[in-house]
Amino acid sequence: MKGQHYTIAPCNVLTGSFICPPDKSISHRAAILAAIATGKSTLHHFLFSEDCLATLQCLRQLGVEIALFKESNTVVIEGVGLQGLRESQTPLHCGNSGTTIRLLSGILAAQPFSSTLMGDESLSQRPMGRVTLPLKQMGAEIKTQSPDYRAPIEILPLKKALSAIHYAVPVASAQVQASLLFAGLYASGTTKVTVPSVVRDHSLHLLRQFGADISQDALTVSITPAEKLNAQTLWIPGDLSSAAFFIVGALIAKEGCLSIKQVGINPTRSGILTLLQKMGADLLIQNQQQIAGEWIADIHVKSAALHGIEINPRDVSLCIDELPLLLLAASCAEGRTTLRGAQELRVKESDRLHAMAVGLRTLGVSLELYEDGMIIHGLSKSLFEGGFIDSFHDHRIAMTFIMASRRSKQPITVSDCDYIATSFPHFFTLAQQMGFEVSTNEESILSNE
Ligand code: S3P
Repeated sequence: MKGQHYTIAPCNVLTGSFICPPDKSISHRAAILAAIATGKSTLHHFLFSEDCLATLQCLRQLGVEIALFKESNTVVIEGVGLQGLRESQTPLHCGNSGTTIRLLSGILAAQPFSSTLMGDESLSQRPMGRVTLPLKQMGAEIKTQSPDYRAPIEILPLKKALSAIHYAVPVASAQVQASLLFAGLYASGTTKVTVPSVVRDHSLHLLRQFGADISQDALTVSITPAEKLNAQTLWIPGDLSSAAFFIVGALIAKEGCLSIKQVGINPTRSGILTLLQKMGADLLIQNQQQIAGEWIADIHVKSAALHGIEINPRDVSLCIDELPLLLLAASCAEGRTTLRGAQELRVKESDRLHAMAVGLRTLGVSLELYEDGMIIHGLSKSLFEGGFIDSFHDHRIAMTFIMASRRSKQPITVSDCDYIATSFPHFFTLAQQMGFEVSTNEESILSNE
């Protein structure tokens, strides 16, 4: 059931330690590649969130056998091979998940059968032309809805193999890059994808791991068609985007002291750590190790007096999902923080610039909103007002404002917290272990009391 509001009691403490929950981006990609590989893949530490489960359900509808072992967070996927997917008799429902719909579009554009990909209300408002237009250039036949090439996406049976193209992606999007590289597995010739700035490179590591012929030259990635991909046994690193909520919560709390283990710190993705350090954060990054091309580490964080910074357009793609949290941190800092070049935030699960501006103003923060960013005048030592925050049905907006309770005078009520399960199903369990007192609008089953 969607529509649950949660109220968080104000508290200036955040202490504890936990193992970082699995990475969403890597879980999606690993499942899709395992499905089209030859043989049985075992994915340990897979994220059982609604978004990743949507990917698994779509793959099952396409004829892939998948066994879930929830107690051990493991998924076993019987790969059907590159040519082994079968037409789904019903539309593929991608729920709230942009990664599911865009990445699967790349694979399905290359199939000799038709597919319809659809999503929930939020996903149906998001731009899909960024993947469907280049896929059409490769020869796919695809229909979308007006305006802005929205879902449902109808993909018609491919009559002749996709042609390789060199595509310069106009937006810094890892989803578009991944979708086109996946299509490139099936194209005739070498497909090249150039992004305007660095995006998360999980697709490259995983494609290489599964045996694809892929190379990178600065912002351009090239892939040649594969004869087959080989099944893998993989361990999925922790998701920095999930850890980041508690990292910022601990930083802004008066008494914050937190350790998170096995966090993915892939440098194409860890902009938030660099930017928080620039703001004066006390972060200790220890036990760094590399697993299947991905760096992980343990992160220790303590409360700190933060100061305002400039977040430049070139920083944006390195911390795209963490920008709401950086705006929250900036609201607690001394001085001014400027964010520019972040217009992509307007087409995420919600318009995140609008959602953050409305929510922060409710909490008493003074800010100026622009089409591509925001200037925030930090409250420094003052605390947030409490109040009712509209999450705009967006998991990351909801979790960001729940963290604001570590710096608030009054309770904060956040709408539609059910969406948190799209990326971080154990968020409230962990939050309570870290000292959060949570109640629902129907009496508390979650309260610590
Ligand atoms: C993702 C890439 C980003 C990010 C999203 C996950 C991915 O989207 O916002 O949450 O897994 O590739 P864009 O590629 O649209 O920037």
